[in-house]
Amino acid sequence: MKIPFSPPFINEVVIEEVLDSLRSGWITTGPKVGKLESFMAEWVGVEKALCVNSASAGMQLMLEWFGVGKGDEVIIPAYTYASTATSVLHCGATPVMVDAHPTSFELSIKNVEQAITERTKVIIPVDIGGWPCDYDALFSLIQREEIRSKFSPNHHHQTQLGRILVMADAAHSIGSYYKGRKSGAIADLTVVSLHAVKNVTSAEGGVLFFNLPTPRNNEDAYRSNKIITQNGHSKNVHERALKDGWRYDIIALGKKINMTDLGAAIAMAQMGQVEAMHQRRIEIFNQYLKGFQNTPHLILPSISDQDRRGNGHLFMIQLKGCSVDQRDEVISLVKDMEIALNVHFVSLPQFTYFQSLGYLPENFPVAVQLSNSEISLPIYPQLTDDQVQSVIEAVKSAISQVCI
Ligand SMILES: Cc1ncc(COP(=O)(O)O)c(C=O)c1O
Repeated sequence: MKIPFSPPFINEVVIEEVLDSLRSGWITTGPKVGKLESFMAEWVGVEKALCVNSASAGMQLMLEWFGVGKGDEVIIPAYTYASTATSVLHCGATPVMVDAHPTSFELSIKNVEQAITERTKVIIPVDIGGWPCDYDALFSLIQREEIRSKFSPNHHHQTQLGRILVMADAAHSIGSYYKGRKSGAIADLTVVSLHAVKNVTSAEGGVLFFNLPTPRNNEDAYRSNKIITQNGHSKNVHERALKDGWRYDIIALGKKINMTDLGAAIAMAQMGQVEAMHQRRIEIFNQYLKGFQNTPHLILPSISDQDRRGNGHLFMIQLKGCSVDQRDEVISLVKDMEIALNVHFVSLPQFTYFQSLGYLPENFPVAVQLSNSEISLPIYPQLTDDQVQSVIEAVKSAISQVCI
């Protein structure tokens, strides 16, 4: 493939940082994970950030911390990646899927409002493609008296908050802004993914941002969750080496979902270059916008408006007035030109597993329509201007052949 879809950003700075970890002898959770957590918290502007081995594991951890379980409902968009839903299912709770926003990929606040019941404990907005949801509208909704009075807590963290929790699935939105605040400093809790295809990566990984309203103690929430990520050990191996040797206690029902120092080394080295990396993504985004303007059949995405600035994670186009077969044919023709395209997302009710649970495509027509018309184009800092032009020409040529 001449133009792959999303190769990781690995330059000499990244390689050196990983070699440094290898030479240091600390390859699993150690000083670099600690450094990444402090850096991330400060960069985003919250008290605490916690590194884990994936956003999927991180979302489940946060839901469990909030006491979400059997009988509880968590509102999620139908138009998202599977783990937004499976993190809820793993807690024994019910994902309540809402149909997509009619004109964009973001969460429909109107549909969320209709889905709230006495059992709703959490709403998970998803910043698809790095475009933040309308958080002020969402917070205004859950703060309304009639919504607050429906909230029936059954765990002490729920009682302390006294309302529905907003946990952002910000898998895509590291470095995106909503009304001047970075993703991570907007929702109560935010889960970012550092998977290999994301803007910043640790190969596999995730970062959890604690932004609980005062008087909640974000430090305590960080500490107790950190212990769970390391199998419930009171101290991890690095802390034991620094302090009093081998002795540790098991103080919680733990999981093994810690991030390694090798992964943190990749992410830390990338964070040192993140402004330039994002600037290049935004440049490419604007080149695409210019190259595709006035192209028939295309609905183009936004990179900014008066409230938001995206991070150029994905460039998601929609083919207007074309069938799903025509969309697939466009992808296939472009692939023949050795350019990889992708689809974000196939909506959850279109998958066998979710259908087996009763989530049916006919109940989510907007999400299905979006899924059937979407194409994601390559966008990453290493992409050259010439390659961007090749993608534009290939996609336009395929559309003109297929969507007549
Ligand atoms: C919207 C969304 N949420 C969650 C995830 C899960 O991230 P991870 O692979 O780090 O578990 C992804 C992964 O692509 C995603 O796209």
